[in-house]
Amino acid sequence: MSTTSRGPAPTVASREDAPGLVVPAGVVPPPTDRWTSRHLLGLGTLSPGEIRAVLRRARELAPLSASLGPRDDNPDTPWALARREGQRLAGRVVANLFFEDSTRTRTSFTVAARRLGAEVVDLFVIASSVSKGETLIDTAKNVEATGVDALVVRARQAGAAALLADHVRCSVVNAGDGGHEHPTQGLLDAYTIAEAHGRLDAFDLAGLRVAIVGDIVASRVARSNIAGLTRLGAEVVCVGPPALAPRSLEVLGCRVSHDLDEVLPTVDAVMMLRIQFERHGTPAVAPLPGAAPKRSAAIASVREYRTFYGLSEERAERMKPSAVVIHPGPINRGIELDHAVADGPRSVVLRQVRHGVAVRMAALSMCVLASA
Ligand code: NCD
Repeated sequence: MSTTSRGPAPTVASREDAPGLVVPAGVVPPPTDRWTSRHLLGLGTLSPGEIRAVLRRARELAPLSASLGPRDDNPDTPWALARREGQRLAGRVVANLFFEDSTRTRTSFTVAARRLGAEVVDLFVIASSVSKGETLIDTAKNVEATGVDALVVRARQAGAAALLADHVRCSVVNAGDGGHEHPTQGLLDAYTIAEAHGRLDAFDLAGLRVAIVGDIVASRVARSNIAGLTRLGAEVVCVGPPALAPRSLEVLGCRVSHDLDEVLPTVDAVMMLRIQFERHGTPAVAPLPGAAPKRSAAIASVREYRTFYGLSEERAERMKPSAVVIHPGPINRGIELDHAVADGPRSVVLRQVRHGVAVRMAALSMCVLASA
């Protein structure tokens, strides 16, 4: 006769990101709605719960990603929030370790770190010893030895941020590694789409369809967006000519189409990407000094590309009334996006930039405090 009233022994635990996945009792995976990691290396390795945890925190911090307006000492104003959050990383140092050019991402991380009270140091490849033959790892370890708490890393090589995270004890936040991932861009894009469609409460994007148009193969932004948006429940369709949007991308969980005119009227958001000419090998014709090359073997000509895949004003008129246009920048105006659309009523490009600060504040504070 049994003397206990316990139910059957638990034998499995399931993860929110893989409902079908079961693991033996005792090997319980980390909680999926809490952030426990020291690093943010990509969205492809995160659960929906972890992604939502960063987005929820970004939402709390959102009032700090704009000017606070006239000074106000009352509690419950952005100024009170700024004073509280401005203590969070006080005494900590965040180093921007950029081996590749960037203005907007670096500036956004700098503003985010300063809003949290951290000190910021900027290290550029040209000024650093990497150009004298020191390896990425040596550079990162030397920077860490000066006492920094977080490295914000941008590098030309896919996997660079993860490699450095294996070799340093401080936090590593990936600010773009080759063609692999750009997780904070993916997060701020998801935030912007959620805002545009009234989904900030739960960051549940089920029922929304997002098109990513252009140079998907070369784009770390596209990879982070596919991972992030699909985990949040959205449907993603990548659109471009076969050389820039090959069918093989479907292994990432998105659909692929080569017909923008067919896809455009069906989507709730469209992300336009520039052609990353600099990642397409040596141009056949040398560009003018200082000008970026505008040739790629992947397209017949820029003019033809624009005809089939550029978002002109006329094309944009065929979008759903509620659909928005996003772009990670820099925009090649007149190629993937016309002036009138980039600056028009559907464009939420400046909202993206704004949300980048809140998302990066969330990422930096969660990673640094996880390792505290
Ligand atoms: C993107 C990048 O660097 O991957 N830009 C950015 O982060 N602001 C996209 C691009 O360079 O086209």
